[in-house]
Amino acid sequence: MGIKKTVSVLGLGRMGSALARALGEKGYEVLVWNRSADKATPPGARRVGTPEEAFEADVVVTCLTSYEVQRPLLSKNIKVLVNLTSGTPEEARETAKWAEDNGVEYVDGVIMAVPQQIGTPGARIFFSGNGNHHVLDAFGEPVHVGEDAGLPALYDLALLGIMWATFGGYLQAVALMGTEGITPEKFTPMVAAWLTELGTMLPALGEETRHRDYETDVSALDINVSGLRMLMEANAQQGLDTALPRALHDLYERAQLKGHGTHSIASVIEVIR
Ligand SMILES: NC(=O)c1ccc[n+]([C@@H]2O[C@H](COP(=O)([O-])OP(=O)(O)OC[C@H]3O[C@@H](n4cnc5c(N)ncnc54)[C@H](OP(=O)(O)O)[C@@H]3O)[C@@H](O)[C@H]2O)c1
Repeated sequence: MGIKKTVSVLGLGRMGSALARALGEKGYEVLVWNRSADKATPPGARRVGTPEEAFEADVVVTCLTSYEVQRPLLSKNIKVLVNLTSGTPEEARETAKWAEDNGVEYVDGVIMAVPQQIGTPGARIFFSGNGNHHVLDAFGEPVHVGEDAGLPALYDLALLGIMWATFGGYLQAVALMGTEGITPEKFTPMVAAWLTELGTMLPALGEETRHRDYETDVSALDINVSGLRMLMEANAQQGLDTALPRALHDLYERAQLKGHGTHSIASVIEVIR
């Protein structure tokens, strides 16, 4: 292995610290900068006092709370920017434009992992563009999702949206079962099996949205709206919050009111779109 590059990490939060540690373990010379002094310096890394000092590195990795925080820190003195701060597709595109205007090589990425997974093959990093992305290998498994700088954020938010909806549904169910003394320990294995089964239904659902052909002999929207009303009532009767079942009921019902009552669940996308 030849002489390793110097890589700076801006942001020593939970994720930034894990990234700096992984770079050190892969033999990079690592510089780190953090706004406050209270965060520990990862083993082997060298702390610098200002972002400008960090920009002397061959590659600068940013991992900060938001683009709002990141924007004022960026400088045209950066050679290669690997942006791993989460945001919207539009924010990522603005940063790519800023990089292009300022002669900074740019790689946009998002981290689909928790800090404890960084440096293992399970940590997927979605990235885009043609820039020098090799430092990403230190963090896990880089996955190229296209040229457009907005795409990693789009994948990130779409997948997180599924996670938040699923976790919300799970927590509502755990609360509902808990009102009758049924523990998560007893209930959760059924949920895991159910999620696997639901996963097998997604390709067909996706195809229906693509062809906009919602004929069904499986389950009509009417019956699902009726089921969602029962779910809302059952949660209310058991003394629970009904915001989540109500939101789903109202969404599905809007598709029903649009004339999709006899169609499949996939027709709900006509309201979302
Ligand atoms: N943690 C995860 O599981 C995870 C997973 C995937 C992606 N991410 C993404 O990684 C990024 C960082 O997340 P995190 O979990 O590491 O967050 P965190 O632990 O809250 O760390 C936030 C970092 O941003 C810095 N920061 C906040 N406001 C600042 C400001 N005004 N000026 C300069 N620095 C500022 C903090 O510095 P101070 O120490 O000075 O406050 C800290 O270094 C986010 O975009 C997040 O979405 C995180």
